[in-house]
Amino acid sequence: MAADVDEINFHTRKWIRPEDLNANGTLFGGSLLRWIDEEAAIYVMIQLGNERVVTKYVSEINFLSSAQQGDIVEMGLRATRFGRTSLEMRAEVRNLFTRQSILTIERIVFVNLGPDGGPAPHGQTRITYDRDRIPERLRPASARPQIR
Ligand SMILES: CC(C)(COP(=O)(O)OP(=O)(O)OC[C@H]1O[C@@H](n2cnc3c(N)ncnc32)[C@H](O)[C@@H]1OP(=O)(O)O)[C@@H](O)C(=O)NCCC(=O)NCCS
Repeated sequence: MAADVDEINFHTRKWIRPEDLNANGTLFGGSLLRWIDEEAAIYVMIQLGNERVVTKYVSEINFLSSAQQGDIVEMGLRATRFGRTSLEMRAEVRNLFTRQSILTIERIVFVNLGPDGGPAPHGQTRITYDRDRIPERLRPASARPQIR
């Protein structure tokens, strides 16, 4: 099922440090991809309410501009399609101050896994903006529904 609106929400911010630079002295693409994959994994865990999710597919990555040491970048993701066992997203990384796009990825697909490590239906069809899908066993006791 296609997700509702097109708007991307930018969550994590990263401050570009010396260890994130390539030989050209600008942001190393590998660092950016690691951050995006981690960001996507966390996003999928929240959307599907399951920690056992894996990256299945990443489409063309378009590096549009670079970043320098000291820049702050922000990473945005949006679910674009809820499949039966998968979740597809669009990603964008941009400069926090200038809003200039640094990278876009049209399709990142994660798969929801069951206890056997195989694809499992996730049952979700819409984006959540809350933490309401976090499994009960992972919530603090104060946040669990009380049984009377
Ligand atoms: C993820 C994994 C369990 C899926 O197994 P699989 O046999 O491909 O599963 P399926 O064919 O049933 O596909 C599962 C879902 O992925 C989707 N999918 C499979 N291949 C895809 C591709 N190339 N592009 C986009 N989606 C794809 C399917 O459409 C299906 O989604 P749906 O249920 O929402 O329709 C298996 O491929 C795997 O373990 N891969 C390694 C994952 C990993 O370790 N990633 C970390 C990086 S190394």
